[in-house]
Amino acid sequence: MTTADALAGRRIVVSAGPTYEDIDPVRFLGNRSSGRMGFAIAAAAARRGADVVLVAGPVSLPTPPGVARVDVRSARDMHRAVLDALPADAYVGAAAVADWTPVAPAAAKLKKQPGVDRLVLELQRTADILADVARHPSRPRLVVGFAAETSGDLAAHAQGKLRDKGADAIAANRVGVAGSGFESPDNALEVWWRGGSRSLGPAPKTALADQLLDLLDTIAASTDRA
Ligand code: CTP
Repeated sequence: MTTADALAGRRIVVSAGPTYEDIDPVRFLGNRSSGRMGFAIAAAAARRGADVVLVAGPVSLPTPPGVARVDVRSARDMHRAVLDALPADAYVGAAAVADWTPVAPAAAKLKKQPGVDRLVLELQRTADILADVARHPSRPRLVVGFAAETSGDLAAHAQGKLRDKGADAIAANRVGVAGSGFESPDNALEVWWRGGSRSLGPAPKTALADQLLDLLDTIAASTDRA
């Protein structure tokens, strides 16, 4: 159904993977995102002829053919790289960006102190990349976020993120269950937009990426009419 040039002339920025927030030169706060979903989306968009920029956190995945990759480490680096990649026709924020980062990373390795059995780490909120892209003067036509939930009401959380972050669509996946989400080759998504929702998968992340791009086409067309 899709052709190799369906997205020719379109520029798509995709973020993928975790971010690492340094505590000291040898320790960091990270998360279990493998980057596979975002890499699969970047690969699928490139196969359709898009000009793709993939902003990748620390992952060990090969760069998909035809994709321009920018490697970053922290949420702050990713924020800068994504905004630098604008203007674009679409932004897909598949990265699991840290919400918190140490206020003052130590310049030297933190040593244990005799008699000290507690350490308090002060964290501050990171800038929200998705929300900043959605309110940027060069806002892409389509801004898509992801939501990873381990429990609770997926629908309410996804709709809250649509509203609060100004995104056009949110793809929610349940993490922490076997056969879906982080560290798994398969995934299942529930995609929410203002006009409705649709379930995709369970399917391998590569197939799911194609299904998601097809759906994003439909969502873009519906927001054009709105
Ligand atoms: N995101 C971002 N910048 C951040 C944090 C998150 O761009 N500093 C983006 C992610 O790339 C993803 C979406 O926002 O597209 C996820 O939203 P977030 O609120 O972080 O989701 P959860 O961590 O799942 O939400 P909560 O903290 O409510 O559990």
